Amino acid sequence: MNVRVLLLGDIIGAPGKALVQKHIPELKKIYSPQAIIVNGENCAGDGRGITPKAMRFFKHAGVNLVTSGNHIFQKKDIYPYLTEHKDLLRPLNFPSGCPGIGVTTFEVDGVPVGVINVQGRVFMRELVGCPFRAVESVLTYLQHKTKIIIIDMHAEATSEKLGIAFYFDGKVSAVVGTHTHVQTADERILPGGTAYITDLGMSGALNSMIGMKKDAVIRNMLTQMPVKFEVETEGTMIMTGVIIDINSETGKATHIERIKVIDTDLKFDHINHADFGDK
Ligand code: FE2
Repeated sequence: MNVRVLLLGDIIGAPGKALVQKHIPELKKIYSPQAIIVNGENCAGDGRGITPKAMRFFKHAGVNLVTSGNHIFQKKDIYPYLTEHKDLLRPLNFPSGCPGIGVTTFEVDGVPVGVINVQGRVFMRELVGCPFRAVESVLTYLQHKTKIIIIDMHAEATSEKLGIAFYFDGKVSAVVGTHTHVQTADERILPGGTAYITDLGMSGALNSMIGMKKDAVIRNMLTQMPVKFEVETEGTMIMTGVIIDINSETGKATHIERIKVIDTDLKFDHINHADFGDK
């Protein structure tokens, strides 16, 4: 049996969540994914971190699992959630005292799907452990549970994402990159059968800088002075990711396809106010 998974890159603030709410039903109709995984580390209102309320929103929208990265600990009220739930991952290679887990499994039509979230070290500020060794340390455990293993490699450098992908080619079903918020056009199945894309991209404003208002970011670049970054909420929106088909008997990917939704008329004021957990 083939398991079809929809993976979406970083969901940015209110516009990102509004894109999820509006377009996931449509993507489900077109592609019939059996599982949906999104990176949610930028989905809080200010574009930094994630809250329990946002997690309830994602569950309500049909997302099976949320991955993250360097912004995972930005909002303190997510700490208890990370300890109590298994549907939100933090990078596996953060120090062991941090709340949360970096590896989990969930079931799709009776088939377990394993997911590892790991962070790169090149051009990243956090002093995390070696991502290669971190993945290696949980691989045998995971392989006993399932053939289907997906890695979200949250990293800045293309080379490090490719390094993880080639190192684990044939041992995992897919390696998808996140963090740079720009979808790359290098999706393919590697020689060993691992599906790969350097970055899934994001859900947020197209004419922004990684989802943030560009003027403030440019001012920071020009002056080197601290500025407040704000989520861009105006104009055309973009939502990107991939569809991956994985053979559940072999664990090999059979298909990878880029998804890109352009939305010129996104209404999302209600996303700031509604408590989706109450529905
Ligand atoms: Fe990030």
